[in-house]
Amino acid sequence: MNADQMPWLERFSLYLAPMAGVTDPIFRSLCKEEGADVLETEFVSAAGVLQAWERTRRYVQLSDVQRPVGVQIFGAEPEQMAAAARIIVDSVHPDFIDINAGCPVPKVVGRNGGASLMKDLPLLERIARAVVQELERDCPVTAKIRSGWDARSICAVEACMRLENAGVRSITVHGRTRSQQYSGMADWDIVHECARRVHIPIIGNGDLRKQEDILRERDKGIVAGVMIGRAAMSSPWIFRHARHLLNTGERLPEPTSPEKLNLVLHYAKLTLDSGHYGDEITTMRALRARILSLTKGIPGTKEKRSALARVCSWDELQNILASLS
Ligand SMILES: Cc1cc2nc3c(=O)[nH]c(=O)nc-3n(C[C@H](O)[C@H](O)[C@H](O)COP(=O)(O)O)c2cc1C
Repeated sequence: MNADQMPWLERFSLYLAPMAGVTDPIFRSLCKEEGADVLETEFVSAAGVLQAWERTRRYVQLSDVQRPVGVQIFGAEPEQMAAAARIIVDSVHPDFIDINAGCPVPKVVGRNGGASLMKDLPLLERIARAVVQELERDCPVTAKIRSGWDARSICAVEACMRLENAGVRSITVHGRTRSQQYSGMADWDIVHECARRVHIPIIGNGDLRKQEDILRERDKGIVAGVMIGRAAMSSPWIFRHARHLLNTGERLPEPTSPEKLNLVLHYAKLTLDSGHYGDEITTMRALRARILSLTKGIPGTKEKRSALARVCSWDELQNILASLS
């Protein structure tokens, strides 16, 4: 692929955020069906790719219906990141490779990866340059950053300039510092400032909960697209609704409770049929948190939450959901 080609950015794009433990291939497919334009895998460690590719590969399994789809990698060593990106590109042919400079979890920042790169922008730039040079014109490279490490070190604009300088093709800016984790509200002023200061597309991220939030950002005309995370966990239809609103100015009604319950069953069936998690009980265990998110707010589910949190089989899930409809 020509690295200049990220054709999805020709229109205001709706990205599904990478979310570890959530955006597996099945959840990505569900969001694609629900209108997401661009998908990303959960992050994978560059070291994991190099040391245990066969085990890591399942996290970056891609299918053509999901395209465009990117694979996100994290790490702190330029050569290692470049070598991992090469393996991924040659094996699963993603539409882009995304460098994670935003993950706040101790396991990642403790190894100087993720958001800790916001404390060392020269290293972030070296990593980006190494990955871009390795992939040359085979695959575009993007990055996902936070606004800074903490309130005293807001550095997203400088990070964007360095990443642009290194040849990165687009950047997602999550308007929170690492210290904030997921608390408070995302600072969209810093997201907009980044978009004004570089020439590559900036994707805005943080706290877009409703279709109107997305319309508002499109109408401001500052960012090239938006990325949606937690709202998609409970309302994957947000992409379809937002696209409809962007195209027509009309607001689609909230899905009815039976429609939401059908979506849960559809998703559970897709996951079981995929065999991604193994046998039925292991799959249902993996699905519990997702089912709880998707059923939140449906009348009657409050009383069923403990049953849903322990659900062990497809039949049991059907019975619980049938008792709600
Ligand atoms: C469960 C969970 C897992 C996440 N995993 C990742 C990840 O693997 N890579 C990443 O860049 N961000 C990750 N994030 C951050 C999201 O991509 C996104 O930046 C953040 O949730 C803010 O967007 P939102 O307000 O739309 O949720 C994760 C967030 C959540 C809630």
